[in-house]
Amino acid sequence: MVEALYPVPVEWAKDALVDEARYNEMYARSVSDPDGFWRDQAQRIDWIKPFSVVKQTSYHEADFGISWFTDGTLNIAANALDRHLATRGDDIAIIWEPDSPSDPERRITYRQLHEDVCRFANLMKSRGVKKGDRVTIYLPMVPEAAVAMLACARIGAIHSIVFAGFSPDALAGRIVDCDSSIVLTADQGLRGGKKVPLKANVDEALEDCPGVDTVIVLAHTGADVPMAEGRDIDWRTGVAQQSADCAPEEMNAEDPLFILYTSGSTGKPKGVLHTTGGYAVWASMTHEYVFDYRPGQIYWCAADIGWVTGHSYVVYGPLMNGGTTVMFEGVPSFPDASRFWQIVDKYQVEIFYGAPTALRALMREGDDYVKATSRKSLKVLGSVGEPINPEAWSWYYNVVGEGRCPIVDTWWQTETGGVMITPLPGATALKPGSASKPMFGVRPMLLDNDGKEITGAGEGCLVIADSWPGQMRTVWGDHERFFQTYFSTFKGYYFTGDGCRRDEDGYYWITGRIDDVINVSGHRMGTAEIESALVAHHKVAEAAVVGMPHEIKGQGIYAFVTTNAGVEADEDLRRELIKWVRHEIGPIATPDVIQFAPGLPKTRSGKIMRRILRKIGENDFSSLGDTSTLADPSVVDNLIENRPQPA
Ligand code: PRX
Repeated sequence: MVEALYPVPVEWAKDALVDEARYNEMYARSVSDPDGFWRDQAQRIDWIKPFSVVKQTSYHEADFGISWFTDGTLNIAANALDRHLATRGDDIAIIWEPDSPSDPERRITYRQLHEDVCRFANLMKSRGVKKGDRVTIYLPMVPEAAVAMLACARIGAIHSIVFAGFSPDALAGRIVDCDSSIVLTADQGLRGGKKVPLKANVDEALEDCPGVDTVIVLAHTGADVPMAEGRDIDWRTGVAQQSADCAPEEMNAEDPLFILYTSGSTGKPKGVLHTTGGYAVWASMTHEYVFDYRPGQIYWCAADIGWVTGHSYVVYGPLMNGGTTVMFEGVPSFPDASRFWQIVDKYQVEIFYGAPTALRALMREGDDYVKATSRKSLKVLGSVGEPINPEAWSWYYNVVGEGRCPIVDTWWQTETGGVMITPLPGATALKPGSASKPMFGVRPMLLDNDGKEITGAGEGCLVIADSWPGQMRTVWGDHERFFQTYFSTFKGYYFTGDGCRRDEDGYYWITGRIDDVINVSGHRMGTAEIESALVAHHKVAEAAVVGMPHEIKGQGIYAFVTTNAGVEADEDLRRELIKWVRHEIGPIATPDVIQFAPGLPKTRSGKIMRRILRKIGENDFSSLGDTSTLADPSVVDNLIENRPQPA
């Protein structure tokens, strides 16, 4: 197959921070002389005490360990704020666009943000929060979310953000796992005109979290919410009493910065831990090069701070680079499907970074919503979170970007802290659907199932040889799980969980997860988590969840459910189970299809054959493979015959 190739526009190659020759040169050095390369790159950070050792990393069990810039000290909040004050204190750090276009926006300068962060840091300190403590953040997309993150970083507390769309149960599990005694929230969130009862969710979650003694509540919508005496504090009243002086804590490069829970193929979500120095260098460097970012440019990453993209590319990356970052509270389709592009025009956004799922949803609404806006300010378009299909890519490129703007299709993960494989706007010719080339310092490799390296063009399991500064350091509270999950499948390599193809030109094409993780609207879900939510229902005996192709979401959730004896498996139960899963995990886990199954295909030893269920989910019965080893092959016929058609 001949793939379309979009060469780097001449004007881009001329003015870019990195052109093709420079990319090749920098990449070669980054892998042949990582110590020298990273010693230089680390100069982008203000260190309190300079490091002497660049990296000490091993993926082997005998001497396993990952540490970067180990003896250096710094404060990442000071890097995002204080050091800009003298030169660009009055520049806008954050532009906030509210859910409704008729509400006023906010523009916050670096000086103001610095002051807000200091006051809020002092408020947390006054409640006993200190270095190393965990702070759970359950806030909507408001500037105070960035204030909260940076205030934690300033005093050395570890933030753990829980996406505000998660249920009270999911929130409680994350609070308990990292043992935080403080939760930061708002009365309500707003999304597409709908109110999200954040404080009520926190109250419900805290019934299961006896260790929480402080809840700081931001009045956002102004809803009347009950406040627990002695525990709950009003945000603004609290900060008003605090001083605007708060010295940043001197942090070791390897001191923890944040925990972010993400789904894996087994068990409960794991707390991915990132540390300070390596993450700072990585988030800042990738943000600058991937978007060819220069201070003064208006940059908008449309991700929620509840996901890693929001951490690295709404808050830390752009602010460390002295940028202006747009935060949008709402959704792409409210009040109508022009909303994204109206915001682009309103603030003259030059760089827009979004998710394929939103693009597919907007594409379906037709081009008129886009064409009603100018978008002349746009220079670079980014994509993240899931593979972008060629149709969505072309639409993004031709309709949104009018053929002017390179698309950076960035592949990375919560675990990697920042972008790992991506085109650079001035350096890489684009192939729609390919994340293209590795970022500096990243050594992707493809292995076959036996761990043998595939060289040249081919397809296999994507692993990364050698460490990079932004790599996660452990699973909170379970270092053994960290090693087992990522370093035991292929000895000596970091295993990504993704399948990947490399073409003749050395371009990487991510083919999707090869474990039991599915990607629904760019949100990563463990099938095991949804299964355990389903079986927790008293009418369910057994459940198996697989991904299914979905036009907008990329993947949808297909659940096979076996009910307990005597239970009527009808429409009412289907609705009840959907409601149940939404309550247990959150609306993002809503099953698209529930198929009641009298039996699941199992081997004689009782193992569920997911391969077969995946095929049924995909509506592809042609290649079910060998079913003769099943304990009861007839269950497959039954599942095929009764496969419901998705709504
Ligand atoms: O399967 C890959 C997919 O998303 C997974 C990581 O999900 P998460 O940790 O939630 O991080 C999302 C934001 C970085 C990966 O293992 N993925 C992410 N970006 C891409 C992608 N798949 C294809 N192309 C991408 N650009």
